[in-house]
Amino acid sequence: MSDLKNVENFSYGLEKIFPEAEDFLPILGTDYIEYYVGNAKQAAHFYKTALGFQSLAYAGLETGLKDRTSYVVAQDKIKLVFTTPMPGTGNKEIFEHIEKHGDGVKVIALWVEDATKAWKETTKRGAKSYFEPYKQTDDDGEIVRSAIHTYGDTVHIFVERRNYKGVFLPNFESWESHYNPPSCGLKYIDHMVGNVGWGEMNTWSNFYQNTMGFANLITFDDKDISTHFTALMSKVMINGNGRIKFPINEPAKGIKKSQIEEYLDFYGGPGCQHIAVATDDIVFTVSEMKKRGVEFLYVPGTYSDTVTDRVGEIAEDLKTLKEHGIMVDRDDEGYLLQIFTKPLTDRPTLFFEIIQRKGAQFFGKGNFQALFESIEAEQAKRGTL
Ligand code: FE2
Repeated sequence: MSDLKNVENFSYGLEKIFPEAEDFLPILGTDYIEYYVGNAKQAAHFYKTALGFQSLAYAGLETGLKDRTSYVVAQDKIKLVFTTPMPGTGNKEIFEHIEKHGDGVKVIALWVEDATKAWKETTKRGAKSYFEPYKQTDDDGEIVRSAIHTYGDTVHIFVERRNYKGVFLPNFESWESHYNPPSCGLKYIDHMVGNVGWGEMNTWSNFYQNTMGFANLITFDDKDISTHFTALMSKVMINGNGRIKFPINEPAKGIKKSQIEEYLDFYGGPGCQHIAVATDDIVFTVSEMKKRGVEFLYVPGTYSDTVTDRVGEIAEDLKTLKEHGIMVDRDDEGYLLQIFTKPLTDRPTLFFEIIQRKGAQFFGKGNFQALFESIEAEQAKRGTL
């Protein structure tokens, strides 16, 4: 079996691979991620230019939507929505979100067979409703959506689209642009990480376990993830078919300020820290993004000297990986390659991770030291360590 097949089976196979996850909430995949931003038009342009997304859909004044403007971009299975409120029309929540958090992820939308059932099953188990199931229709069919709250001001919207053939959602029109920069090879969302407050990791991992039927794939304590100065803890939660992975981080005590605490200070509370996107060719993806202006985290100079000792033989050229600062880790099934961007926003909050899985299905901890040291180096430059 090829490496790629492994990745595909893991992320999109229908077999239930985590029987301990109680799958009363079958999730087909991530549907879309919606950011609330100060300027949706410019954000969409940045994600197209720098990260290789394509224009997909638009809703705003021209389509009859008065209170906000939304641009939707896509790359393979990933859909991102950028939304900016328009003045004076009662959408206080979006204004307040931007004022408090800066540009950030509001919605992690999950694609489900039955959005009504998803809402009933989760709210029955204690999830707080964000909105009840409702149907929207247009000439392309109907969509049912419902939503619940998760950490901070972040929400999950359940999207049922089996009776819909439109480009995105009702009331969006296709966004045709003459500017279509080529893809950077991003395929799908591998995982999305939430940062939560002191002592709240268990609250939120229990939330995913009890109200959404997820299993705890792995736990990292502060001894696993610490540098000389700072520490954090993390629990990786996974749904029954393995398509959705949500690591939950909380700060831990160290000599200096945890990078999770820095995030919480700048974001104004819990929120999405990073979006990990999968590629089949990380060297291509990273070189392409660098050409387009994306900045990646510095990796400690000695990191690559010990790679072969830790992971054995790999197909990629080590020198090329070193040039780009791409890290490698291995588990029982294979290995993975990964790299973090610098924050994509002015506040040191949201960043992207680029990940290529070559058999490895989990989260090895071999890279943590290097990854977190490099974040810490950036933190020191900001004077917040
Ligand atoms: Fe990650």
